[in-house]
Amino acid sequence: MPAEQPPKGVNYVTSTLTGPVSPAEAALRPLTFADFTGQPKTVERLQVMVGAAKRRGDPLNHILLSGPPGLGKTTLAFILGHELGKNVRVTSGPVVEKAGDLAGLLTNLEEGDILFIDEIHRIPKTVEEYLYSAMEDFRLDIMIDQGPNARSVRLSIPRFTLVGATTRAGLLTAPLRSRFTLQTRLEYYDVATLVSIVRRSCSLLKVAIDDGGAREIAARSRGTPRVANNLINFVRDYAQERAKGHITQPVAAAALELLEIDAAGLDEMDKRMLRVMAENYRGGPVGMSTIAVAVGEEAETLEEVHEPFLIQEGYLQRTPQGRMLTAKGYSAVGLKAATGGSQQTLL
Ligand SMILES: Nc1ncnc2c1ncn2[C@@H]1O[C@H](COP(=O)(O)OP(=O)(O)O)[C@@H](O)[C@H]1O
Ligand SMILES: [Mg+2]
Repeated sequence: MPAEQPPKGVNYVTSTLTGPVSPAEAALRPLTFADFTGQPKTVERLQVMVGAAKRRGDPLNHILLSGPPGLGKTTLAFILGHELGKNVRVTSGPVVEKAGDLAGLLTNLEEGDILFIDEIHRIPKTVEEYLYSAMEDFRLDIMIDQGPNARSVRLSIPRFTLVGATTRAGLLTAPLRSRFTLQTRLEYYDVATLVSIVRRSCSLLKVAIDDGGAREIAARSRGTPRVANNLINFVRDYAQERAKGHITQPVAAAALELLEIDAAGLDEMDKRMLRVMAENYRGGPVGMSTIAVAVGEEAETLEEVHEPFLIQEGYLQRTPQGRMLTAKGYSAVGLKAATGGSQQTLL
């Protein structure tokens, strides 16, 4: 049976975390450090830098935020702007196609503003080289004209802060990476932290939820606040239609069963990956591109969105030969590990 389609404009993301940002999501975004729960190491590093920059009256140093989607990178970029009292201009790597696009963005900034480049690993190489001098010396040397008339024009730009976000820090070139003073990685959230995020979102949305309900949603959110917020939207609708609007543990569990999100938070795509590995490849080792073809999803998406959680939770392992399913991975899809060591390669 096909999954129930959400109404237009509503984004109940279940098997992908890369959907568009809905206005509902923006409404739940924390605006200050005080409002942002979790990620203690990253938050402390950022607070130190913000405090020092404000005290000295300097622009903040450049910052790279990395980690899987939905953990708070964009949120933190806006919090930085808010805490500094500066504007945040937002763009994304693939959108900045030419050096001229970058020049347009940079020359419109005011001193101390933040330029937030999302998906910065996807910025074209030709543009990236201009970014170096912009970040280091706050200038851009742009070539105009070609052939014998070619000459370069130097633009000086306001002292700004680049905040880059990436799901794939490993894809950034070394010269670009080295120009960020702070490189900090966001981690998946534990259930206790997600419980408090769920409670906060529900109180902003004026949704009645008890402890058991909050815990149930948190446990099924794959360590990800964006998923938690999306699940709340669906559970809220479910509670309204079936349970007089009150979210309790049994109500949340029933609603999430309907979305086929299991007790551990694995979604359809997570489980499809595990099942393919078990049934078609005897638990591996198998390459990600092979898994991708079998499940009908881009290898890049599987690596960015699905695999980090599956590895962290011990459902699969990465080996030099490829991905291997663990015993926990088998049992998550209701199967038993292949006996007799399919894991040994035939010699
Ligand atoms: N620490 C947090 N506390 C509360 N809500 C959060 C937190 N981190 C993220 N969120 C929520 O999750 C959603 C996704 O966060 P976002 O910053 O867009 O993630 P990313 O940019 O890493 O993909 C936001 O709408 C925000 O409301
Ligand atoms: Mg983002």
